[in-house]
Parts: sequence; C-alpha cells; structure tokens
Amino acid sequence: MGSPLRFDGRVVLVTGAGGGLGRAYALAFAERGALVVVNDLGGDFKGVGKGSLAADKVVEEIRRNGGKAVANYDSVEAGEKVVKTALDAFGRIDVVVNNAGILRDRSFSRISDEDWDIIQRVHLRGSFQVTRAAWDHMKKQNYGRIIMTSSASGIYGNFGQANYSAAKLGILGLANTLAIEGRKNNIHCNTIAPNAGSRMTQTVLPEDIFEALKPEYVAPLVLWLCHESCEENGGLFEVGAGWIGKLRWERTLGAIARQRNQPMTPEAVKANWKKICDFSNASKPQNIQESVASMIKVLHKIDAEGGISTNHTSHETSTATSEFTGAIGYKLPSFSSAYTELETIMYALGVGASVKDPKDLKFVYEGSSDFSCLPTFGVIIAQKSMMGEGLTEIPGLSVSLAKVLHGEQYLELYKPLPRSGKLRCEAVVADVLDKGSGVVILMDVYSYSGKELICYNQFSLFLVGSGGFGGKRTSEKLKVTVAIPNRPPDAVLKDTTSLNQAALYRLSGDWNPLHIDPNFASLAGFEKPILHGLCTFGFSARHVLRQFADNDVSRFKAIKSRFAKPVYPGQTLQTEMWKEGNRIHFQTKVQETGDIVISNAYVDLVPTSDISAKTPSESGELQSTLVFEAIRRRLKDVGHEVVKKVNAVFEWHITKGGDIAAKWTIDLKNECGKVYKGPAKGSADTTIIISDDDFMEVVLGKLDPQKAFFSGRLKARGNIMLSQKLQMILKDYSKL
Ligand code: NAI
Repeated sequence: MGSPLRFDGRVVLVTGAGGGLGRAYALAFAERGALVVVNDLGGDFKGVGKGSLAADKVVEEIRRNGGKAVANYDSVEAGEKVVKTALDAFGRIDVVVNNAGILRDRSFSRISDEDWDIIQRVHLRGSFQVTRAAWDHMKKQNYGRIIMTSSASGIYGNFGQANYSAAKLGILGLANTLAIEGRKNNIHCNTIAPNAGSRMTQTVLPEDIFEALKPEYVAPLVLWLCHESCEENGGLFEVGAGWIGKLRWERTLGAIARQRNQPMTPEAVKANWKKICDFSNASKPQNIQESVASMIKVLHKIDAEGGISTNHTSHETSTATSEFTGAIGYKLPSFSSAYTELETIMYALGVGASVKDPKDLKFVYEGSSDFSCLPTFGVIIAQKSMMGEGLTEIPGLSVSLAKVLHGEQYLELYKPLPRSGKLRCEAVVADVLDKGSGVVILMDVYSYSGKELICYNQFSLFLVGSGGFGGKRTSEKLKVTVAIPNRPPDAVLKDTTSLNQAALYRLSGDWNPLHIDPNFASLAGFEKPILHGLCTFGFSARHVLRQFADNDVSRFKAIKSRFAKPVYPGQTLQTEMWKEGNRIHFQTKVQETGDIVISNAYVDLVPTSDISAKTPSESGELQSTLVFEAIRRRLKDVGHEVVKKVNAVFEWHITKGGDIAAKWTIDLKNECGKVYKGPAKGSADTTIIISDDDFMEVVLGKLDPQKAFFSGRLKARGNIMLSQKLQMILKDYSKL
C-alpha cells in the first residue's frame, strides 16, 4: 500500500466545514498532519442566518485530537477574508476544498429571482471568490491543490433543482479551465460529485441509505486528489458509499448534414438523426484542441467530397469577393533558402532516418556514394514564409500566430533536391477560405534554382476564430486530400520517435516553443510539448519511399497530407500504405493510442519507366571527362608500375550543381590498371565525391586534395588513407 499519505506542514482550507462533508474532510486532513482552516457561515441549509458555533465545534474537535486548526465564519462570497485567515494563522495556503453550499429547491416555474441568485452566489461565485484569493499565492509557491464540488444534479439534472444544477455544472466549467491554467504552476484542480448523508440530503434520502452514505466514504478521495504525489488534474469523479468512478465526455461519430455549396437544411439534420445520435465507436475528446480538430476535419471532408480540383500551380489569383480580397494574390517578399549537407542530414535525423537501417545511410552520411536529400526537405526550403513576420504582414488578414493551425500540406518536386544549394522562394496567398469556425489560408510557395522551378509547396493554414464572413468555402486552388482505399493496408512500417524528436526536428527551422517548452505547451492546452506535424509527415514520407521506391529520391513526385491529431515525442508512428498504381495512399497512426494523426494522405511516385529517361546524362561537357580519358591513355604505358605503387580501386562521383553527373572508376589494383566510366565493377577501396570544378583544381595542382577533404569540398569514403595517393595519380598521370 506504500507509506501513509501525509499533509504535514500543508495549509488546507475547507469551506462549509462546520458539518456534513466539509467536517469529514477537515478532520481527515488534520489527522494526517495538515494545518486546517475550518470555514463555515453557520446558517441553515437554505442559507438563512449565520453563527460561529458550527466552525468552532469542528476546530475544537480537531484540537482535542491533537491537530491544528483555526475557524473562519465568513461567507465564501468574501473569499479574500476566508483565505486571509489561512495566511494570518499559518503563513500560506496549499489546498482549497470548495465545499460550502445550500439548497433552495423549487420546481422551475416557482423559482424566485432570490432563490436563483443566492444559489449561484454561494456555489459558483463563492468557489470563484475563494479560489481567486488563493490562486496567486499558489502560483508564487508553484504548488496548489483545489477541489470543486459539483453534483449529480448538475451532471444529469434533477427535478426541482434548476438553480442548483446550473450552479453545479458552472463549477465544473470553472474547474476545467483552472486545470489548464494552473498546470504549469503545479496547481491541480479536480471536481467531485459526492453522495453522502448530511443535513442537506436528510429530507431526500431514505433513513437507512442516509446512514449508510457516510461523509467518511467521500473524504479519502478528496485527500488523495489533494496530495502532492497525485498527478490527477482536470478530473471529474462521482463518489459515495465507498465507490469512486471517473467521468469523461463521449461524442458520437456523428454525421455531416451539409453538402459543399449547398444550404444546410433541417430536413438534412432529420435525415441524419439516427447517425448523429449513434454512440457506437464513439470518440472521447479530451480537450478543446481535439474538439476543434474534428471540426477542421469536417470542413475538409465537405470540401474534398465536392470533387477533385485541377492541379493548378500557376500564380493566378482568385476573383472571390470577400473581406479578404486584399489578401488573395498577395505576394510575400521573395526570400532565399540556402542549405548545405549539414541541414539535409539534420533534417533526415529529425524525421527519423537512422544508421540502424543501412538503407538510410544515404540520407545521413555525406560520404555515401548515393548521398541524397530527402524529398520532404522541400517543405523546409519553403517554410520560412510561414514563420516570423511573413504571415502577420498579409494585408486584410490579422494573423495571430498563436491561433494558426497547420491543417494540410502539399509538396511537389520537379526534380530531386540537390544535396546542397540556394533556392529562391516566392510565396503567394493563393486563396482565403471561410470555414465558419475559422479561415483557411492557402499559401503557395514556389522554389527556384536560378530560373528552374525545383519544387512547389501548398501550406493550408487554419486561423481559428476569424471565419463566418460569408466568404467562399472552397477553392479550385486547393490540393485536395483523397480517401484511403477501403481494404486492409498493403504495407505497414513503424518507427518509434525518440523523446528528443521534436528537440532535434526544430533545428531544421521551426522554432515554435510549443514543441519544446512545457509551459508554452500547457498554455496551448497540451499536456506536454507536441511533435511538429511536419516531422510526422517526414517520417511517413520516408516510410513510403522505403517501401515502394527503395529509397530512390528521384521517384518521389508529390505528397499531400492532412494533420488530424497531435503526436507526443516518444510515441510510435505507424504508416499504413496502399498502392494504387503510382499513387501510394497512406495514413499514419500513433500505435499506442490508435489515433490517426495523418489522414487521407498520398504520395505520387514517378513511374520507373520515366526515371531512366530523366537521369542526367553523363555529359561530355564535364571537364573531368577529359582528365579521366587522359589518365586512361597514360595508364596504358605505365599501368603496371602504378598498380604496384598504389594497389587500390578508386570510384569517382563527379558532381555538377549538387547532383552526381558522372561516375568513373580508376582501378589501380588489378593487372595493369584500368580506367572506365561507371561504378567499380568489383568493390572500390575508396569512393571520392567531388565537383567537376574542384576536380579540375586538384588536377591542376591549385587545390590540395587533403585540404579539400578537410574543408569538405572533397568527400571520401572507404579507405580514406588511400586518398593520400591521389595527388600522385592525378598530377603525375593526367598530363593534360
Ligand atoms: P451541509 O449542509 O451539511 O454542509 C454545507 C455547509 O456549508 C454547511 O455547514 C453550511 O453552513 C456551509 N455554508 C453554507 N453557505 C455558506 C457560505 N455562504 N459560506 C460558508 N459556508 C457556508 O451539506 P453537505 O451535504 O455536506 O454538502 C457539502 C457540499 O457537497 C455542498 O456543496 C453540496 O452542494 C455538495 N453535495 C452534497 C451532496 C450530498 O449527497 N450530501 C450531493 C451533491 C453535492
């Protein structure tokens, strides 16, 4: 059972502790070492009259038992005074149990204003006043435990208790928000709906049941929830007779009763009523984010079902009339994205590429013969337009970054991303959609190398709360998601993210504290920092690429995905994939919860037949070609001698503009040596990767190969020591 739960040194305030449940709490806390403030106004159960007797009796009882307590006779409506008694007597306040209460039961038509008001004042306003008075002290000491007292009457309703039900459920609403706001200061707030025999229930409960429902059967839950070792926060519990149960919200899967571009009608609601009310497979939303996320899903679904838009990627602007007309077509200042192999490797690690899988080496080791930049790095190139000032400067849109959700992402590559480079990006607001509950900004970003378009991104950003202006709800510019096939997946790949996944991924440029700072995450309503949606996106794309394209980046054409739910670092991502021709549909789940976090997504692959045609020709324009041919000729005379001196096979990858433009092999190991185009026929001892220009500098003696190696201009893998013999080969035997 562990050690007893003690409250030594903790200052506990129990309101309405002169009798019933409050008294039982006060005695139990004191017995376990707490310093207790016994508050009670001392009136009757209808809130008439007042007196000090009730509180004094409980204080006396505690003291008689060897405990410490002081009395307070104020109404909870004077919360400051109640809390002041704790501060004056004991110097701090650790626990507040909001328990005081009265009844003014009347059937609804007979409730007077006074009966209504006094119930709200004592229960709801009283809980607010007392808690607010304690709140800042708890924040300062970074510790607090709060109990709110609700009631089954509030949760379910009860004849004759309209005023009381309203106040009691109001208290739950208050507690829900305090649990969120207090979390970062270690202030927990939980709610109970007790059942106990007290003067309040004496007239309602049959005598034997009244006797059996002792307040002492409720107190232990209150003590546990108020203990420093209890992590529970924001919970709601029914408790009585020794039984305790936790409650949560449940929501049907529901039905969409609206069609794209059609008015919504009550008839459609009627037609869908059964489905709307069907609790089979119901969901259990836990917070407002999950609630909003499902609305976003609905909006997308309605849009997607209206038909598939044509794949425009032009800069045309919409002619929609809305208050956002000024925003549509707005071009953000163009910016450039420069990156080296460092960034591409960091990104690959951020989205889970790992040396554990030898096939991933090409993404994390610049010396790999086929080193490649992951295709989804294309979003990193463009994402600057979403960060910092860019968004907030769009005319006609007032964007608060705290309210922006990344709804969907589309990325199309026109050629594989170079391993390093500098791309110029142009971002344009392609459209602004009114989704009622918010606005969707479609941001198109085009990235160029020189004049060549390398990739195109479409970010769908959801701005919570600014919709409902009567604007259009969808756009032909939108890259739509596509439902997954209705059959078990053809393949499933999994990866467990590390606890540091978001910490690593953010180094690729999304510095939003939501992904690393627990306080910030809690302010945003998350229990801890969440993974970047685009990180999960990168994991999923990697899975598709490995499963269906053998990690060949030149086969990656496009990806579209919708972010459905957050992921926490440490969870396992499971990508379910369906192959339909060159389109790989996928969805990504968190294995631990079964939640779909990326939905209705797809990757389009380039058909294998197109690849060979597209592979860059091993161009005769390369200067290095002449050198290799010269070496080949020269070797005919001196090959035997050189083979003896060198005894190694070198494979060369000559790059141009970041891509491998030619491969050559210099075999100085076998027979009289050989030079030929293409990779080594056996295995190479050393593979050297160098640009055509740098190769020429080495050959001409202007660049020392070792210096080139240390400065990163020349990369070598395999037996690197052998590269020391390079200068000899190149300088002495090229003889241009
Ligand atoms: P109770 O009547 O025995 O205790 C309530 C105490 O609050 C009384 O001692 C009363 O003097 C005090 N009080 C009333 N107004 C006050 C004010 N303005 N300021 C300070 N103290 C005030 O009732 P019981 O049953 O112990 O109820 C405790 C709480 O539990 C109440 O909030 C009640 O609504 C709630 N509750 C009780 C249930 C039960 O089965 N007993 C069922 C559901 C909720």
